[in-house]
Amino acid sequence: MHAWIDRPLRDGKDADEWEPTESEAIANIDRWYQAGRPLFPRDSLQDVRDQLRKSLKKGDSIYVKAFDGSMYEWPVKTGDIKTLWEPDDDTGEEKRVEWMLLSQAYCSVGIGHWMTRVGQEPEPGPLGDLNSGLEFLDTTLRGWEGSEPWRDIKSTLSSLNLDTKIAKVIGMACGSFTPTLECCGSTRSAVQHALLLTMKTFLQECNLGTGEVACYVQDPGYSKTDRLVLEKSDIKVLEDPEGFLEMDDASLVFSCGPNICVKEIVADIARPSILIWCTVKEEDPEHALYVSLASMTVLFG
Ligand SMILES: C[S@@+](CC[C@H](N)C(=O)[O-])C[C@H]1O[C@@H](n2cnc3c(N)ncnc32)[C@H](O)[C@@H]1O
Repeated sequence: MHAWIDRPLRDGKDADEWEPTESEAIANIDRWYQAGRPLFPRDSLQDVRDQLRKSLKKGDSIYVKAFDGSMYEWPVKTGDIKTLWEPDDDTGEEKRVEWMLLSQAYCSVGIGHWMTRVGQEPEPGPLGDLNSGLEFLDTTLRGWEGSEPWRDIKSTLSSLNLDTKIAKVIGMACGSFTPTLECCGSTRSAVQHALLLTMKTFLQECNLGTGEVACYVQDPGYSKTDRLVLEKSDIKVLEDPEGFLEMDDASLVFSCGPNICVKEIVADIARPSILIWCTVKEEDPEHALYVSLASMTVLFG
């Protein structure tokens, strides 16, 4: 399954008919941002979330207010069959949010459709087995609990003196992890989910968290098996952009190597008490590499 994003309308006209120069767009965005206008206003994300929750049908539209006040409109094309650019005929499946940092100049959020091949199941390829998924996460969890990075993180967490008790652990873009017939599962992503679970328990047991700490994740790349394993493990999967909207002062947010601009969105919409996210090696900005989990930057507010 892959995603498709169409050209939107801008104030009712084909967006491509309007084109600022690059330098004009950059100068305007810098000026507006410095003047305090966020790139990802919370109310705009809420509005997109509310529109996506409705039962949408072909012919409806989803509207996003852009940085300069103009209104972008994405037509809902569920059920469309694409012949152009898609040699095997694809059909629009579900609606979803597509984050497009500035590629529509003043509109930082775009709306895309999931696509599936005509005649194929929405999730092609061999499905993983729930029990092997649970076992994989459990084995990873036990390994992680005895690891040095977890000891270091616990020690840093223990040294904190926070004004607000943590009520939610939120993992963004932690990735699909369950094994399938074709793949033995992603240890890297499983470790990130194990980290969320150990942090939830640790916060509950020490006085940093509320009595019951909720655990949420957002990643549109989860398979059905991932979702089932997460549900059984007491981790709630949220649909994009719900994970961002859950963030508040009483949150711990974790994200490592996302391919959306998590840091920029968080900066605009929330002040979580604890942020754990990766740094990017800077030696070669053209080919940035994400550092390993053990050397993540840990920031505390
Ligand atoms: C490079 S992978 C990193 C996965 C994992 N965190 C790791 O370190 O290996 C980027 C992840 O971002 C996820 N992603 C893409 N769009 C997203 C969105 N809108 N919200 C949350 N996650 C998203 C992808 O599905 C993918 O799992």
